[in-house]
Amino acid sequence: METVRIFDTTLRDGEQSPGATLNLPEKLEIARLLESLGVDVIEAGFPISSEGDFQSVKAISEIVQKSIVCGLARATPKDIDRAGEAIRPAKYGRIHVFCATSKIHRDHKLRKGKEEIIRISVEAIKQATAYTKDVEFSPEDASRTEFEFLEEITQAAIEAGATTINLPDTVGYATPKGYGEIFAHLIRKLPIIKERGIILSSHCHNDLGMAVANSLSAVENGARQVECTINGIGERAGNAALEEIVMALRTRADFFKIGTRIDATKIFPASRMVSNLTGLVVQRNKAIVGQNAFAHESGIHQDGVLKYRETYEIMDPTTVGIPKNSLVLGKHSGRHAFKDRVLQLGYQLSDEQIEAAFVKFKALADKKKEVFDEDLEALMDDQLKISRGVFELCGLHVTADSITMPESQTSASATVTLRDTNGEIRQGLAIGDGPVDAMYSAIQKITQIESRLIDYRIRAVTKGKEAMGEVQIELDHSGQRVHGRGLSTDILEASALAYLSAINRLRSLANRERLVTQHTGV
Ligand code: KIV
Ligand code: ZN
Repeated sequence: METVRIFDTTLRDGEQSPGATLNLPEKLEIARLLESLGVDVIEAGFPISSEGDFQSVKAISEIVQKSIVCGLARATPKDIDRAGEAIRPAKYGRIHVFCATSKIHRDHKLRKGKEEIIRISVEAIKQATAYTKDVEFSPEDASRTEFEFLEEITQAAIEAGATTINLPDTVGYATPKGYGEIFAHLIRKLPIIKERGIILSSHCHNDLGMAVANSLSAVENGARQVECTINGIGERAGNAALEEIVMALRTRADFFKIGTRIDATKIFPASRMVSNLTGLVVQRNKAIVGQNAFAHESGIHQDGVLKYRETYEIMDPTTVGIPKNSLVLGKHSGRHAFKDRVLQLGYQLSDEQIEAAFVKFKALADKKKEVFDEDLEALMDDQLKISRGVFELCGLHVTADSITMPESQTSASATVTLRDTNGEIRQGLAIGDGPVDAMYSAIQKITQIESRLIDYRIRAVTKGKEAMGEVQIELDHSGQRVHGRGLSTDILEASALAYLSAINRLRSLANRERLVTQHTGV
């Protein structure tokens, strides 16, 4: 069967979701999983945007062997050079150049005419071909660009050396029929597309909830690359969801008659990892990977599924990697079983990281009789964070008095002990309206990082009263939003860990910015 390329942009457009910033070890882990998932192209970042992005595109280029690693660049010389340098170590490297083409972007954003836009795009593409022959060009806001201009710039981009033309629906404005027509039109009008074997690509945003439908329509009309993200994360309402596109093409192969090279059994682990590391929770009823995607509540449906699964299930959950019975580990489980399970969950950490996580697993198994997959994921995600932590929690003492009658009142005090990267131990004491408030004030005193708590969520990761508690928070620091996640069988400790992970994330962002300033000299 013919195949369509899957271009994953979780680490670039996906990371542009507010609060979803990832650190380098997290990005590397996701990149490894994307490669084993079988994605054809990994868009690893936007190298000019920060030193951190440059370093992560470079590091991903160094480790990925099977997928193409792509760096994004505006149509300007310094962007192209930065992207070219970042992908230099890649076995297969691509530069993705973009320049806005719609009238509204030409007049109000770029303030440039059509001719100049063609000229700078052509120059940028030519410059990019000096680094790699694999150059993709995106006329940004293509879905709102006049057909004639789209034809003109596509022809010029191909002549300049672009081998993939991506037609983004940047603002999620397109409809399936209209978006499909753009592809059919260009293929009809520009013989160069067929002659040179140019790949046309879709890139859809979900503002009107049509990103997946639009992408599939593009495929029906000749697109042979789809740009998408795990769980559909991305700018605003997100991008087209990889898992939905892959499973639509697979489940309705009778209709689309085109496949992908994706190993669908890795979809669920990938969804979990991206959600855990970005802090972006997957809605329960999300297609393919939501908690309810394969749950049958109605008695009639349950009866039907028990008699013959296909009566109400169009996909077998195991085909997307949802385990039938999740294997439960316990305190007698050895290193081998632990490592095996961790690999099945999609983690490919170093032996050292696995060993450190194994020690924590043993401690957890002593507290809890049964250790579930969710507990293991929590341990592994924690392990990724620790390799980068600026502040580490070493001690926590919290006292709280609650008066419930006649008026509910709580006063609490917290003493928090942290270790910083230099190994220095710092202690802070604070009082607050409740234990979490007191703890967070104590941490602020030590770290001297003022921030506003804008979201705090707590849930049990698994069942039972000895379950691990997960706390997810979002902080706002001078307009910058970051998330944090903490896990422990003690919910106060989980709360402190979540706060510290957010603070550490803020710290690494501040370092990135400092480096960019040094690099660009502004
Ligand atoms: O949505 C968009 O237009 C983009 C481009 C950079 C391809 O993300
Ligand atoms: Zn986009």
